[in-house]
Amino acid sequence: MLEGTVHTTSQFRTCQGILPTRIVLTGFMGAGKSTIGPRLAQRLGWTFIDLDEEIVRAQQKSIAQIFDSIGEAGFRDLEKNALGNVLCQENIVLALGGGAIETAANRQRIQQDDLTLLLYLAAPLEVLIERCEQQQLHRKAVRRPILEKRAELTERFQRRRPLYEMADWTIDTTGKTLDEMVHIIMSQWNKASWKLTHEQAKKV
Ligand code: S3P
Repeated sequence: MLEGTVHTTSQFRTCQGILPTRIVLTGFMGAGKSTIGPRLAQRLGWTFIDLDEEIVRAQQKSIAQIFDSIGEAGFRDLEKNALGNVLCQENIVLALGGGAIETAANRQRIQQDDLTLLLYLAAPLEVLIERCEQQQLHRKAVRRPILEKRAELTERFQRRRPLYEMADWTIDTTGKTLDEMVHIIMSQWNKASWKLTHEQAKKV
C-alpha cells in the first residue's frame, strides 16, 4: 500500500458508467469510521449513517446492553437486518461496526451491489487499541464489549483483516490527521469520477 494514497482493487466496481451512490466504511474498532464518515458525507453533500446508531435507536438500548441481553449472535442478527434496511438508501456514507464484515450475508450484499463502494480504513492493531483507549479516556466512545475481551482481540483482528482487505479501496490511516484522510479519499473519488465521466463522454 502506498503511503498517502488509496490502494484500489477496483476502479468503481460498476461497469454501467454510473457512480456509486453509497460509500460503506469498514475497519476494526478505532479505525475512524464514525469520525471520517460525517466529514466525507459533508464533502459529498450526502447523508451520514452510523449502523450502530441505527441499531441503538431501533432497540432503544446501548450496544453493551444489547450484547448483555442477546449476546453477540443476537447483535449480529440485528446488524444484518439494519444493514439491509439502510442499503436501500442512496447518497449515503455508511459506517459499519467493526464486526459487520464477519457476517457472510453482509459481505455478499455489499459486494454484489455495483452502486456501493467499500472503503477499508486500515491501521495496525496496536494503533487501533491506542485510539480506542484514548476515546474511552476522553469519553468520546460508547462501551465496546468486543474491546473488553482483550485476549481475543488479536485473533479477531487477524480473522477479519482478509475480509476488510476485500474492500474496493483501502487507506492506511496510521499517523494521518482527519483532514489528511478526508483529503486523500476525496482526491481518489474525484479522480475516479472524473475518469468515469471522461470515458462516458468518449462513448457518446
Ligand atoms: C464491534 C464494533 C463496534 C460495535 C460493536 C461490535 C466489533 O463498532 O459494532 O461493539 O465487533 O468490532 P465500532 O467498530 O464502530 O467500534
